[in-house]
Order: sequence, then C-alpha cells, then structure tokens
Amino acid sequence: MSTVFSGIQPSGTLTLGNYLGALQHFVGMQEEHDSFFCIVDQHAITVPQDKTELRKNIRSLAALYLASGIDPEKSTLFIQSEVPAHAQLAWIMQCVSYIGELERMTQFKDKSAGKSGVSSALLTYPPLMAADILLYQTDIVPVGEDQKQHLELTRNLAERFNQQYNDIFTVPEVQIPKVGARIMSLQDPDQKMSKSDENQKAYISMLDDDKTITKKIKSAVTDSDQEIRFDRDNKPGVANLMSILSLASGKDMAEIEKEYSGSGYGTFKEDTAAAVVELLRPIRERHHELMESEELDRILDEGADRAQRASFKTLKKAERALGLGRKR
Ligand code: TYM
Repeated sequence: MSTVFSGIQPSGTLTLGNYLGALQHFVGMQEEHDSFFCIVDQHAITVPQDKTELRKNIRSLAALYLASGIDPEKSTLFIQSEVPAHAQLAWIMQCVSYIGELERMTQFKDKSAGKSGVSSALLTYPPLMAADILLYQTDIVPVGEDQKQHLELTRNLAERFNQQYNDIFTVPEVQIPKVGARIMSLQDPDQKMSKSDENQKAYISMLDDDKTITKKIKSAVTDSDQEIRFDRDNKPGVANLMSILSLASGKDMAEIEKEYSGSGYGTFKEDTAAAVVELLRPIRERHHELMESEELDRILDEGADRAQRASFKTLKKAERALGLGRKR
C-alpha cells in the first residue's frame, strides 16, 4: 500500500481554499492509502504567535480534520511538535540544503520582502517540510498549487541525500487537484484566498456561519459583462466562483455555463452561496461537538504514538548513514 502525507498549519481558522485545495482530497485518499495527516505547529512558529491562540488553533484544526471526514481508524492524525523526529530530521535536511535554493523559494521571498529582522526559520521552513514528508517514506503528497515549489525542493533534497549517503528516502510525488488547487480571494481574484488576509471579506473561513458565507459570496468581485464563462485570464472573479460552485456541488464547468447562460450574476452567486453553506454547515456542527469532547485527545495521543514509531525508524537509518552517534 502506498503512503500519503500532508500537513496544514494551525495559524488561524482554515479557509474554504484550504478545504477545497487540500483537506477535501485527503478524505478520499485515506480509503486506499496508508495516510498521515499532520498539524504542523512548528511551521506556524516561523512567524510570531500568541501562545493561547496557537493552542486553541491546534485543537480547532484537529477537530476540523475529523469533522471533514478524516477517520482515525484509517489515518494517523497527529501534532508535529509531539513527534520529535520531525525537528531532528529537519536539522539533517538543512545540512544538505543550499542557502541559494532556499532563498529562491517564492514563499520566502514574499514573506521576507521589505522586512527587517526576518527569522532564519522562514528560510529553513522547506527543510522542515521535507523532513515531515521523508520520515514516512511518503509516495504521494496532496497539496494546493502554492506548495508545488516546496515539493520540488523536497524531491531534490531526498535525491541528494540518497546519492551522497545511502539510498534511504522514497522520493515523493506531488498531487495537485485539477480544480480548486488555487482558490482566489473574493475581493482580489488575482491573489490566492488566504487566512492572513487583512480584509475578512476576501476569504471564507470554514467556521463562518451561513449568513456570513452568503454575504461574502454575494459581495465577491466579478466584472461587468454578466456572462458566466470559465475564463481565468479575462474573468478571474467569475472563474473562481465557478470553481467553488463546481467543487461544492459536483457539477462540471460546462454544466454550470449552460445552467446560468443568460441569467446574470444574481442567481449564480445565490446558488454558489447556498452550495457552500450546505458543504460547510455539517462540518461546522461536527467541529463544535468535537471541540468539547475527550475523544479528540485520545485520537491525537494515538496518532502521536503511531507517527513516533513510523518516523523513528527512518530517522535512525538517516543518522546511521551519516555516521552520527555510536554504532550499536
Ligand atoms: P498551509 O497551511 O498554508 O495550507 C494547507 C493546504 O491548503 C492548501 N491551500 C490552498 N489550496 C487552494 N487554494 C488556496 N487558496 C489555498 N490556500 C492553501 C495548501 O496548498 C496546502 O496544501 N507548508 C504547508 C504545510 C506543510 C506541509 C508539510 C504540506 C508543512 N509540512 C508537508 C504538505 C506536506 C503550508 O503552509 O500549508
């Protein structure tokens, strides 16, 4: 059976983009693969976090994974900082990374541009991500479009280590969905939807209530020609809403174009809002129950144990290949 690994940062509540680009796909994958899903709290601290908020966000993300359909009988769900092999292998991955290739990462360039006192961890973020993936001999990594470059680097680091030391790591394949890999901001459809956007109308949080979701979709930026057509370059706002409607309703683009031909944006936006409301409501309700339950802690304890066992083996192999510690 092949192995799947993916991670999400607990920095604020997830957006509809996180769900449609990543989380939704994890749920289907756990049926056929040995799956590991991680709450990457060590990645979150590459920028300053309030400790009370971070703790809350970690728990909330665990509940969101489960509420979205991650089944602890089928998948291993765990918190990165509770499995020490991640930070340990990250150090080794840093030792095989070049500063130049890390500086070329667009996420690093975006997050550090024009800032003083940039944390060195912002630069060494991708080697930690490589460690997350390589520890589980992962075959497939399902992610949204924005993680593609980090995945290419992970493959390069794995190949470099295998060549220089010993053939230890599986070189993972990235899996990016055809629709939804890059859900855009509702206010500026040239920017990706992001939970760190200052304008709350730009993103839908997975925990927004029905009224808020509807309001945000109705005020989404489109264009003035009233035509429902999938054209990402010339009609980015409409194309984005069409992707959202397609994923939330299961209809393909041709069906959507046909259904709304000549009807203008009003009904189209209303139906898109209704589909998103139906999609997120059960998740939000289940999330609420889980946050109050002790079940959550038991699942995370078991997940950490399983992840610990699987990752320790790979870590030891890598340390042996490098000559670290003593021979036993
Ligand atoms: P993060 O926490 O920013 O996002 C989690 C997942 O959601 C996807 N995503 C989107 N997909 C579509 N449209 C959007 N607007 C959108 N925004 C986010 C991301 O592509 C991602 O799949 N570095 C990673 C976390 C990570 C990781 C890993 C992922 C750490 N270690 C190992 C995979 C494997 C991150 O910051 O994702």
